[in-house]
Amino acid sequence: MKVVSENRRSYDEFVSSEFLQKQKLTLPNFTINMQLIDGKATAAAIKAEIAEEVKKIVESGGKRPHLAAILVGHDGGSETYVKNKVLACEACGFKSTLLRFEDNITEDFLLEQVDKLNKDADVDGFIVQLPLPKHISEQKIIEAIDYRKDVDGFHPINVGRMAIGLPCYVSATPLGIVTLLKRYNIETSGKKCVVLGRSNIVGKPMAQLMMQKQYGDATVTVCHSRSKTLKEECQQADIIIAAIGSPNFVTADMVKEGAVIIDVGTTRVADATRKTGFRLNGDVDFENVAPKCSYITPVPGGVGPMTICSLMKNTLSAGRKEFYD
Ligand code: GUN
Repeated sequence: MKVVSENRRSYDEFVSSEFLQKQKLTLPNFTINMQLIDGKATAAAIKAEIAEEVKKIVESGGKRPHLAAILVGHDGGSETYVKNKVLACEACGFKSTLLRFEDNITEDFLLEQVDKLNKDADVDGFIVQLPLPKHISEQKIIEAIDYRKDVDGFHPINVGRMAIGLPCYVSATPLGIVTLLKRYNIETSGKKCVVLGRSNIVGKPMAQLMMQKQYGDATVTVCHSRSKTLKEECQQADIIIAAIGSPNFVTADMVKEGAVIIDVGTTRVADATRKTGFRLNGDVDFENVAPKCSYITPVPGGVGPMTICSLMKNTLSAGRKEFYD
């Protein structure tokens, strides 16, 4: 049960937060039963828990979990993601290895690198950062990864096991979102959940997880670019998970009072006031949607940090051989 005064405090903290000031946003000053979901703090807490676990494993003579990453080319977004993954490994006490290749490598060469990592007994899990250059088939590479080391949860064996509720590596963004919903004690059972987007990495696994009996237990609707009733579906939703990759797509008129809003969008939008020259923009018109919600994730600082933290969770599971020998 939420107490309004506590929520009032969290709203006030939020209004004066570094996040809003950075976004140069202002919100109307009235009492609202809205809570900001702090993915950054939740991810930091989970990484600290993982680091404790790793310490215990190593102290009792076990092997330090080892994550390897392959990065092909110099895509700005991928460079940042991989750098953050390596930093997260350090925070968790994992060993990490980064293999970098130019974007003119052949598909056969990349398949050989995957094979080497499959066979390397010291590597518990590894990822190939996507997207790959156009001349390389992402699906072929994903299927070449040993599913027992597929900590991204992209291999068809892990995707299939997840769909029928068997233990496996689950794609990091949907896993991070489920973790946030659980940690914030957000009721999902019997709720109407709309997932916007049908990608293999986020939309599809998200919908699968939200309909599972063990957790989720929701009535799930997936909408995408061709959906004719997208707005009406959103208006009826208790939970909206927006992973459509279109800045400010979800507007206030699409959201029911008291809805839970999870924003997966991270589109780079040009911003001359930033040192980097861009800012990250979510799929939700945060300024106008936030006052209507019971819970909402910000961008940045919401789902993003949870994605990396879930990859760390999967790597710990790989180190422990939790799902496969
Ligand atoms: N590109 C965008 N997100 C991801 C991810 O979760 N894993 C990999 N390997 N590539 C990505």
